Amino acid sequence: MELKQAIQGRRSIRAFETRKSVQKEVMTAILESAILAPTGGNAQPWHFFVLEQPEIKLKLVRAALKQKFIAQGTFVVVVCIDEQQAYSTYRDRGVGLYSIQDTAAAIQNMLLTAYSFGLGSCWVGAFSEEQVSFCLELPHNLRPVAIIPFGYPAEAPSRPQRKPLSTVCTWI
Ligand SMILES: Cc1cc2nc3c(=O)[nH]c(=O)nc-3n(C[C@H](O)[C@H](O)[C@H](O)COP(=O)(O)O)c2cc1C
Repeated sequence: MELKQAIQGRRSIRAFETRKSVQKEVMTAILESAILAPTGGNAQPWHFFVLEQPEIKLKLVRAALKQKFIAQGTFVVVVCIDEQQAYSTYRDRGVGLYSIQDTAAAIQNMLLTAYSFGLGSCWVGAFSEEQVSFCLELPHNLRPVAIIPFGYPAEAPSRPQRKPLSTVCTWI
């Protein structure tokens, strides 16, 4: 698939086919695309938890304002910032800015790669960090920043409107 087609066609999917599962090899390829994202100083301050068990997925639903579609994904990835790694590379700026950008770039790679394989996904940011940390028994250096379900789409939403480029871009 052409990059332009992937960027234009990808949508947030909030309903997944529960009878058709994503192959583990496909999920691995998606994760491989995540770790190719650029990071400040090539610090790679991240860790990806890949969840498949229904019980843990349901715990995540509860931690994420009961967004039920999360549990419909074959795999649910929780993206974490490794704040210890981020701090050791760039101190406060590494923790407060670069690591946020690094993980965002990795997430976008995953969303686009998933779409190129015919899969749907949704970047979920509305959740209790405390509850997710508790569910996954995360060590203190890991901060969960996104929950992403991956599965075959059971809906085909149209693109939400974007602000025109002319209103959000200034050429100087
Ligand atoms: C940082 C971030 C947090 C988001 N959190 C949620 C969320 O908690 N639940 C949800 O359904 N969608 C969430 N989304 C998806 C957005 O609603 C979606 O990307 C936006 O409406 C544009 O739609 P599109 O992805 O189909 O282009 C989030 C997206 C981003 C980038």
